[in-house]
Amino acid sequence: MINHIGTNSIETIRLILRRFKEEDTYDMHKNWASDKESLKFLSWGPYSDMGVTKGRIGTWIRQYDDKKVYNWAIYLKSIKEVIGQISVEISSDKEKSCEIGYCIGKEFWGREIVLEALRAVMHYLSSEVGYEKIIARHDVQNTASGRVMQKAGMKFQKRLLNVGHRRDGSLYDVDVYVKYYKEVK
Ligand SMILES: CC(C)(COP(=O)(O)OP(=O)(O)OC[C@H]1O[C@@H](n2cnc3c(N)ncnc32)[C@H](O)[C@@H]1OP(=O)(O)O)[C@@H](O)C(=O)NCCC(=O)NCCS
Repeated sequence: MINHIGTNSIETIRLILRRFKEEDTYDMHKNWASDKESLKFLSWGPYSDMGVTKGRIGTWIRQYDDKKVYNWAIYLKSIKEVIGQISVEISSDKEKSCEIGYCIGKEFWGREIVLEALRAVMHYLSSEVGYEKIIARHDVQNTASGRVMQKAGMKFQKRLLNVGHRRDGSLYDVDVYVKYYKEVK
């Protein structure tokens, strides 16, 4: 059974994963929402106007009333800043499955920070919420994201061709990774 508990804080060695607050606007804007490179493989932004970032956080805050929403700010304890986001993007209670997306600012890449966040979130979603299938997908060109999925113990499942258009108009393929928490019959 899925037991929805909403977005509660999770602490790891270097991070606190917690709900977004309005005060995170500056950090989010500076660290990733205004940065083209950080968002290269994402479908939104970059925002030049901090008011847009603020609006996005406001929407997320209102969504927290819904216990089916899982959307964490990634807070790096050493610098006391929010440096990214990890969230459930799509889910199915019937299939007991959910799909995770994540992003951190490029200044923080290469330190296995997303891996630390992903492992903690996968544990939360499987052990506490009860999802039995956790999915993640990445543009085939975004091999760094694929490495994070592999290191988190997810297995390559399939490549989907021509799923959408990149910012430059080119078509892209995605690799889908899955981790099962219950033996598949
Ligand atoms: C992709 C992303 C999630 C990786 O997170 P991370 O915390 O940097 O991941 P890791 O430190 O575990 O590194 C993963 C891989 O990135 C590559 N990498 C390492 N340092 C890097 C750097 N400075 N710049 C680019 N890539 C780097 C390496 O290939 C590494 O694999 P390895 O551990 O086998 O050497 C992060 O770069 C990011 O948030 N990117 C922007 C948003 C995004 O693309 N999200 C995913 C959408 S599917």
